[in-house]
Amino acid sequence: MVDTKSKHRKRPIGVFDSGVGGLSILKELRKTLPNEDFIFLADQKYVPYGEKTKEELIQLVSNITDYFIKRYNVKMVIVACNTATCNAIEALRSKYSLPIVGTVPAVKLAAKKTKSGTVAIISTPSTSKSIVLNKLIDEHCKDVRVLNIGCKNLENAVETGDLSGTQVSILLKKYLKEVINSDTDYLVLGCTHYPFLRGAIQKIVGSHVKLLDGGKAIARRSKSVLENNFIKNNQNKLGKTTYLTTGNATIFSKVTTLLLKTPIRAKKVKLK
Ligand code: DGL
Repeated sequence: MVDTKSKHRKRPIGVFDSGVGGLSILKELRKTLPNEDFIFLADQKYVPYGEKTKEELIQLVSNITDYFIKRYNVKMVIVACNTATCNAIEALRSKYSLPIVGTVPAVKLAAKKTKSGTVAIISTPSTSKSIVLNKLIDEHCKDVRVLNIGCKNLENAVETGDLSGTQVSILLKKYLKEVINSDTDYLVLGCTHYPFLRGAIQKIVGSHVKLLDGGKAIARRSKSVLENNFIKNNQNKLGKTTYLTTGNATIFSKVTTLLLKTPIRAKKVKLK
């Protein structure tokens, strides 16, 4: 039997975020899908996404998707950003016919796991107010108390590679105050930048609070979408990743090298 999709299988996958946060998803994608080629784009010219309007976000993610398709002929797009997913994935799906996988806070899992009956979600101001997140909470947390906390500026700390400094610690103490003063047993990291702050967050909330992020689930979901569409790359060799930023390539390369613990050389690109 001729595999009519075989040339599509070799096309790369586009993954994007406003900045370096999406690397927490990329890390899991590369473990689960080691033979795929990835194009990772950080839209740092416009970080933070968490303070943009829905209309602005739809425009930004459309520009990225257009670029991925025209320049790299990607076979799938992964939105490695909760803010962009909650505000713009529907618009993207109605505009483009290729498979698009998004990232939403792991609310369902937290609600399933909680024993105390209280869970907390930290995310960007835009995600925390979004209809998508609030619908997820209504749907899955009928008998669970939810602390839905929108946080400003945390992503900026990660963008500069500050994962445990005084600045981060001051911000985290402010945002996590309510969590510490409650019986929360599961804390959802609802922004892809936050898994890089795991150590600092855990120190503040204590080891009895379990931290949840969506990285592994997104990677599993991406794998099944590729399989169901018969476009999973079946080459034997390891795939490669290309790193792009719309911001400063020197800073992005430096911070990415720190976060992924491996030397990365990124390229600056202009989308339009
Ligand atoms: N990393 C992004 C998220 O998951 C957004 C951070 C930002 O640019 O505000 O929501």
